[in-house]
Amino acid sequence: MLITFEGIDASGKSTQIRLLKQYLHANGVEALALREPGGVPLSEQIRTMLLESKEEMGSVTELLLFSASRAELVRTLVLPALEQHKVIILDRFYDSTTAYQGYGRGIDLNTICAVNQIASLGIEPQLTFYLDLLPEDAMMRKFSEKSLPLSFGKNETPLDRMESSGLEFYRRVRHGYKTLVQENPHRFVELDALQSINDLHRQITETMCQRLPKLRERLLHKCP
Ligand code: TMP
Repeated sequence: MLITFEGIDASGKSTQIRLLKQYLHANGVEALALREPGGVPLSEQIRTMLLESKEEMGSVTELLLFSASRAELVRTLVLPALEQHKVIILDRFYDSTTAYQGYGRGIDLNTICAVNQIASLGIEPQLTFYLDLLPEDAMMRKFSEKSLPLSFGKNETPLDRMESSGLEFYRRVRHGYKTLVQENPHRFVELDALQSINDLHRQITETMCQRLPKLRERLLHKCP
């Protein structure tokens, strides 16, 4: 069973994934939590290239690197775990590629769809939580997280290569996510990322129980 989390940077995905994993563990269900890009050594190396490289990178190269990282993670960990009926929680999956490289960078969406199919080996998540946040709020969070002033020198940016893409880019990414939510109501759930950590966690566990009856049956305790 595959559950994915999506949202622009600083939307609080990692915290919610950690809490969901703990919740499942406390209910007798082991879950594997992995991040994209990354999760296995080769994909982590590709992650470094994608986020830390100071070289100029074309958007097609970027698309193929994110996809290469995904193909490796799916082949080595995700697919075998799904075959053993394990629960996998992914911090980003191909919806990130559609939102960032498709809507954000402007690569043709049919091309994105075809590449996503190849890289994910045809796997589709059963449930996707989209944590919605305005790019302006994300930027504020990012800076306060790192206790940084909102202004900094030209060569001292605390942001990674993707985060340095600017507010307009993030507005397009957010629009992409919103469109994905509308087009895929069977698997997407949109939540307001500005809510408290506890409220979000409660909504996530409630939704999971409603939408995934097979997983609900495996939980030791009653759903909230
Ligand atoms: P994160 O793991 O801290 O969220 O950072 C990953 C960054 O990579 C984030 O800015 C989103 C971006 N990204 C893409 O642009 N396309 C993708 O397919 C994926 C998985 C991530």
